[in-house]
Amino acid sequence: MSFKIEMINEKSFEIVEDQTILQASLEAGIPHYHACGGKARCSTCRVVVQEGAENLSSPNKAELKLREQKKFPDNVRLACQTKVISSNVKIQRIIKDEADLDLYVYGKSSENIQTVGDEKSMALFFLDIRDFTPFIEKHLPFDVIHIVRRLNILFNEVITLHKGKIIEYAGDGIYAVFGFDEPIREAVNNAYEAGKQILSSLNKLNDNYITKYFDYKIEAGIGLHAGRVIAGKTRVKENNNYTVMGFPVNVAARLESSTKELNNNFIVSEYVYAMLAEQKSVTEQKQINLKGVSEPFVVRLMGKPFAN
Ligand code: FES
Repeated sequence: MSFKIEMINEKSFEIVEDQTILQASLEAGIPHYHACGGKARCSTCRVVVQEGAENLSSPNKAELKLREQKKFPDNVRLACQTKVISSNVKIQRIIKDEADLDLYVYGKSSENIQTVGDEKSMALFFLDIRDFTPFIEKHLPFDVIHIVRRLNILFNEVITLHKGKIIEYAGDGIYAVFGFDEPIREAVNNAYEAGKQILSSLNKLNDNYITKYFDYKIEAGIGLHAGRVIAGKTRVKENNNYTVMGFPVNVAARLESSTKELNNNFIVSEYVYAMLAEQKSVTEQKQINLKGVSEPFVVRLMGKPFAN
């Protein structure tokens, strides 16, 4: 019996029962890397399964061993060990040239590449420190950096506690994501709780420290949305190299900037609101315009008006 299999961006080809994907791919003329000759030792033949994972043979002992060593994500398989048991399989080669070999297999950075780009549902969280420029203008550089460090430590502690991760630090804001291992509803609620905790901890930090020693009150605005995004590692060598991209990310950033025009420090999308365990009965609903989207976008005002 034979099945059809697609090597994305290259070609579709036939694979017969008992043939490995590597054998069929080479027969089809694809220059598929296989440095160890198909013995499950090099990992250069690895592929990302984009569709039809259930139509593949289960990983054998040799593949499981290498997978454990290299910490592959679940959607990566060794073409030299994997067979096809039904049609509708779509895969993608990872190693296509020498630079890929260096990046994923032999290079110093290869141990950092545990993910190759997943599409997943995540909660997207943008926080901006409001009116930070007047604080910078009025204070010594040491004080500014000191306060930014205090704030970043606070944000990081709360976000990590709620199973999120900060993807980007700007001087006056952060971008964090939630939902690495949890279902989206749980991730959304974690992100929402993290937002509430950050805002209340910020009030305490103002009262006990910033207002006391610097005669200033720091306020923050938060935007929270969720959706299907592309997540993966893009840079190498640095630790903080996880990137999450997609239209929902732009929406979340736009929600954060709408905190100013709506005068409310915590704005969530209607999509997020529908998943919240705590649905405030008196929450105000508003519509905002998103760049490039003709329909108004419905949001909920979950926070408080700004003091200044
Ligand atoms: S060819 Fe070396 S692991 Fe598959």
